[in-house]
Amino acid sequence: MQKMDKPVIVCIFGAAGDLAQRKLVPALYNLYLDNAVPEHFAIIGLARKVDHGPFKEQMHTAVDTFSRRGKVDPERWEHFAQNLSVIDGEFTDPEMYRKLAQDIQNYEKQWAAKADHVYYLSIPPGLIGNVITQLDKAKLSKDRSRDRVVIEKPFGRDLESAEALNKLVTSAFDECQVFRIDHYLGKETVQNILAFRFANALFEPIWDRRYIDHVQITVAEEVGVEKRGGFYETAGALRDMIQNHLLQLLCMVAMEPPVSFEADEVRSKKVDVLRAIRPIDPGEVYKCAVRGQYGAGYFQGTQVAGYRQEPNVSPSSSTETFVALKLFVDNWRWQDVPFYLRTGKRMPVKSSQISIQFKPVPHLMFPGSSADHWEPNRLTINIQPKEGILLRFQAKQPGKGLRLKTVNMDFFYEDSFTVQAPEAYETLLWDVMQGDGTLFMRADQERVAWTTIMPVLDVWSKTPSADFPNYPAGTWGPEAAEALIARDGRSWHAPALGNM
Ligand code: BG6
Repeated sequence: MQKMDKPVIVCIFGAAGDLAQRKLVPALYNLYLDNAVPEHFAIIGLARKVDHGPFKEQMHTAVDTFSRRGKVDPERWEHFAQNLSVIDGEFTDPEMYRKLAQDIQNYEKQWAAKADHVYYLSIPPGLIGNVITQLDKAKLSKDRSRDRVVIEKPFGRDLESAEALNKLVTSAFDECQVFRIDHYLGKETVQNILAFRFANALFEPIWDRRYIDHVQITVAEEVGVEKRGGFYETAGALRDMIQNHLLQLLCMVAMEPPVSFEADEVRSKKVDVLRAIRPIDPGEVYKCAVRGQYGAGYFQGTQVAGYRQEPNVSPSSSTETFVALKLFVDNWRWQDVPFYLRTGKRMPVKSSQISIQFKPVPHLMFPGSSADHWEPNRLTINIQPKEGILLRFQAKQPGKGLRLKTVNMDFFYEDSFTVQAPEAYETLLWDVMQGDGTLFMRADQERVAWTTIMPVLDVWSKTPSADFPNYPAGTWGPEAAEALIARDGRSWHAPALGNM
């Protein structure tokens, strides 16, 4: 990442919260260590009931704990933290914004230069409207080229609320100033899908319905809902993971080649995919979608609680912690190729992978016995934990006679590149500071993503599941998820790499 020339001030609303501590401030510190922030750079935290001294201490501990580089170097931290300050107040109070405007002005005076202003809203969804309105009133949103707002997911909780939020946000900011964040798009391997597909001539000619049998996208998490029960109860896996992360991964796999790497070009190609997803008929939801909720179980030999026993979760909750979904993309490239998506908490391993299953060869000339273990080709894009790409193909087993065996050809980031990859939030924050929206969700993307899942959301909210909890913690989800894919004569692919 190159060093920026223009001064930048990052204002983090909710600076004492979990995201700021785990991700945002460590990411900004790492960008600083990589020499990627400008010489004139400041972070202003906005939070409730936090004083300057304790705030700095808190951020120091956060970076020590969560930075990918481990504990901070005291000298470098001191330098970084010189321009780290906090404004204590209420997000609804105009006074907070007056102070913010004043602090920004002071920095700009001191630097004798205008800065770009990034307003990062790491706050509960219910407060976003207030902050946007106050920023607007304080005239902090007016400069199209220098004022930017970053909004965390979930962007709304359904199509209607997302539309309303969008209206409000765009009444204060122009669309080009709005950065709707989906941290999956900042992951190196996710970005690498574009390089893999469009910088190599080898795969694109076979990347369609003639050669591909189906696509599977799995995002499995080992963790349960942790301390986020309060939020999760209002979300569930469909809103929390499918509407954003998994649909974005689907877009990366299914999109047409963009003409250039410009933000709007890339985003338009993704919107085309979302628009082509076959609408789900509410009457058919039971055929193409499965929900699950984990009960008590065992994880790595230790007993763990069920979702309903987690803090801030209702003992009769009908919130889903697992979703499996079958979708089709109705266009020339993908007609009738199923895309199977699944995600869940408390799965046996952490694994995010995309698996492209190719069709069988038209005629297998080998005698039956030699091809007992024959399998069609499969390409696996492993997003985490071990980032890489694997191609499975057939080889002859050494020895007399001819016996086929499936073997792997693989590429791993850590083997091929010696530099440590930046974390998703580093990439995304750097892009926001540059004003590059390529990896962010445009309003129309959000809208179509909500439209895609609305029939499922509606049906599920009207008919709470009768069998929750329906999978024990530490397993691959409910049996119905196996049946969903087994009905098509297929099965879920085990993680190619698992938790390594
Ligand atoms: C977040 C979800 O967006 O992504 C969390 O809100 C989830 O529920 C997380 O745990 C997973 O992200 P990652 O990067 O750990 O796969």
